[in-house]
Amino acid sequence: MKNMDKRALHLTGAALKGEIDIPGDKSISHRAVMFGAVAEGKTTIKNFLPGADCLSTIACFSRLGVKIEQEGSNVMVHGKGFGGLKEPSELLDTGNSGTTTRLMLGILAGLPFHSVIAGDDSIAKRPMSRVVKPLAEMGADIDGRHQGEYTPLAVRGGKMEGIRYSLPVASAQVKSAILLAGLQAEGETMVLEPVKTRDHTENMIKQFGGTVEVDGNCVKLQGPQSLHAADIMVPGDISSAAFFLAAGAIAKNSSIILKNVGLNPTRTGIIEVLQQMGANIEIIPNQAESFEPAGDIIISSSNLKGIEIGGDLIPRLIDEIPIIALLATQAQGRTIIKDAAELKVKETNRINTVADELTKLGANIVPTDDGMIIEGRTGLHGAAVQSYGDHRIGMMLAVASLIADGEILLSNADAVEVSYPQFFDHLYSLAQA
Ligand code: S3P
Repeated sequence: MKNMDKRALHLTGAALKGEIDIPGDKSISHRAVMFGAVAEGKTTIKNFLPGADCLSTIACFSRLGVKIEQEGSNVMVHGKGFGGLKEPSELLDTGNSGTTTRLMLGILAGLPFHSVIAGDDSIAKRPMSRVVKPLAEMGADIDGRHQGEYTPLAVRGGKMEGIRYSLPVASAQVKSAILLAGLQAEGETMVLEPVKTRDHTENMIKQFGGTVEVDGNCVKLQGPQSLHAADIMVPGDISSAAFFLAAGAIAKNSSIILKNVGLNPTRTGIIEVLQQMGANIEIIPNQAESFEPAGDIIISSSNLKGIEIGGDLIPRLIDEIPIIALLATQAQGRTIIKDAAELKVKETNRINTVADELTKLGANIVPTDDGMIIEGRTGLHGAAVQSYGDHRIGMMLAVASLIADGEILLSNADAVEVSYPQFFDHLYSLAQA
């Protein structure tokens, strides 16, 4: 995200009306392409998210010799099984995507060839030994800067053995990398999570004809397994919907409908937070059966109150914390966010970037070691702010323009392309309705 695209946002007092279709889930879109690539046969994906991160996943698998046809949100993956992937002659460039980087490592670990994986400046600062360590224990040879902590990482994969592994941090990416390696390994692979994280990989394994057992926080599978092509319908991304859930709650005289939002219980922490804060929110589950639950959400202007957020709830809303911080500035009383030190190793250090940028808008927010404390309600004002190339920081600051008095000048606004290319179109369409 090197482009310093600047956007002037002046939506003060706009009432939001109307409805939008929430674009496809980022986590599920990545996994649908990855599983399609390592399965045998033609996988079709509908409502794929054509954001920069998921396009990086497609580009990496193309370099591994997989034919992938993509037109907007329709994708066809011509999978040839794990064994059909070829040694890449070029670097596997994962762009800004942590999910691509970490999950790909799990796949590459079991393949008998050499590859080098790297992404942008943000990826180069994100911890990778959390994945490298268990994969090395399973038999892969992976090295990178600082003893394998940072990209570029060189992988020589090959024969893998199953592993029993207790995750030191709650991370769906690490769990998924180990499971993807386990599908190629001899014997049982078992992952124990300290707190349950998103389970899209487990759901995908079943969807592609594999077998996985889930018992509370323990996930187990037997390897090796071969997978078969599937037709995947991706639900809308609740992490993208979250920006408009917050917008609808804090903008005056507003009522909006967000269509087709994924409602997997490992992702719905934001809905519980809004309910606890006193938001006017209604959920209408889809009747149609799907491998991941989904529904429409109606959100209207709300009188919010501050709450405490921590513990097991954190992994269920980890990506929503930037927008929750903005909500908290508009809630009566104090909001405390704790147990969220993982925020420091996201696309940016989100404890710092959220606190710094909201402070520029006049918020009363104090960063802590594992979260932040926000005093509300505060009137926000316009200022020059920036996303630091972090999509979720950019979208949070753009939503703030609905309530800030004056203009918000947002630098690096194009970061939203990572997960929500239509974000600004959706914001303006709801504000003009
Ligand atoms: C993701 C898992 C989470 C989340 C990220 C997507 C995934 O990261 O923050 O945006 O698709 O598995 P961690 O596994 O690092 O917590």
